[in-house]
Amino acid sequence: MSNIILGIESSCDDTSAAVIKDGILLSNVIASQSVHEAFGGVVPELASRAHQQNIVPVVSEAIKRAGIQKSDLSAIAFTAGPGLIGSLLVGTSFAKGLSTALNIPMVCVNHLHGHVLAHFIREDETTEVPEFPYMCLLISGGNSQIILVEDYNKMSILGQTIDDAAGEAFDKCAKVMGLPYPGGPHIDRLAQEGNPERFKFSKPHIPGLDYSFSGLKTSFLYTLRDELKKDPDFIEKNKADLAASLQKTIIDILIDKLAKAVKEHPEIKQIAIGGGVSANSGVRNAVAEFCERRGLKAFIPKRAFTTDNAAMVAIAGLFKFKDKEFADLNIAPFARVEV
Ligand code: KG4
Repeated sequence: MSNIILGIESSCDDTSAAVIKDGILLSNVIASQSVHEAFGGVVPELASRAHQQNIVPVVSEAIKRAGIQKSDLSAIAFTAGPGLIGSLLVGTSFAKGLSTALNIPMVCVNHLHGHVLAHFIREDETTEVPEFPYMCLLISGGNSQIILVEDYNKMSILGQTIDDAAGEAFDKCAKVMGLPYPGGPHIDRLAQEGNPERFKFSKPHIPGLDYSFSGLKTSFLYTLRDELKKDPDFIEKNKADLAASLQKTIIDILIDKLAKAVKEHPEIKQIAIGGGVSANSGVRNAVAEFCERRGLKAFIPKRAFTTDNAAMVAIAGLFKFKDKEFADLNIAPFARVEV
């Protein structure tokens, strides 16, 4: 009998639903919330309200596009955390209601596991997936972690940020430049036209495999402050070089610790990246080159699977479903959790 999983993701500002049949993706629908753009960041209360409006049409569309009926579903996988509690409550409550109505099990998914396991989403039988153990560089708006993945449900953090996440560094520096939220994709676009060697920003000296991005943010801010005193049009005149230099510094920081992690774990032959920042063109190229130089295999996800999406929730849910790790109706969403 086929395993057909409906995945639901509502941890931040994207409402998403996806259907996976025996590991093959049938549909992945994402409704992003533009309401936050005017505020320069996600407003939790507005996010919850938008999820409430989106969840029914998004789930219906995912089921329709998959060409199945609700009654065909084997289980519902939903993100239980980490994330914004009000946003998570919408997906969690919806999953509880639908699983009760259909009398099928629920599986709760750690959002971070979803990003790490996104590489197992197969669009057809030919998709290549990682082999265990592999290392995953998880870089998003809320996390920057190097994770050792030993099995679908066995992962450990080797290093992580002690302050800002890589995505926050992109977004906060972009904000200082007057770019819209989220700034990461704008920096990526501008960087393609700029000189990455033009400006130098400070890099952290943190022992071990942990990251830090707050010093870079301050150094970027001070450079702009000093230069703007001399020329009020400094940002406008130099935006491509600023973006390229900022992006290069973030990539150097990420790759530096990844190299250290690989050195400490010679058994690792495969490197995967995941999370919103893994959509960045510079990051993707740098990781691919890094792996090629060292004879490692790189897993670079399709851009659609880098930012928040329910396909990754459905696939992570499938592995828990197979292990019969079901959630009961008492399950409550959680704002914070590690992998
Ligand atoms: O994984 P994600 O969608 O949300 C969570 O944080 O869970 O990641 C969002 C982050 C934002 O900081 C956004 O600016 C960043 O991913 N991002 C990018 C790019 N696309 C998204 N950063 C740099 N370059 C991009 N192309």
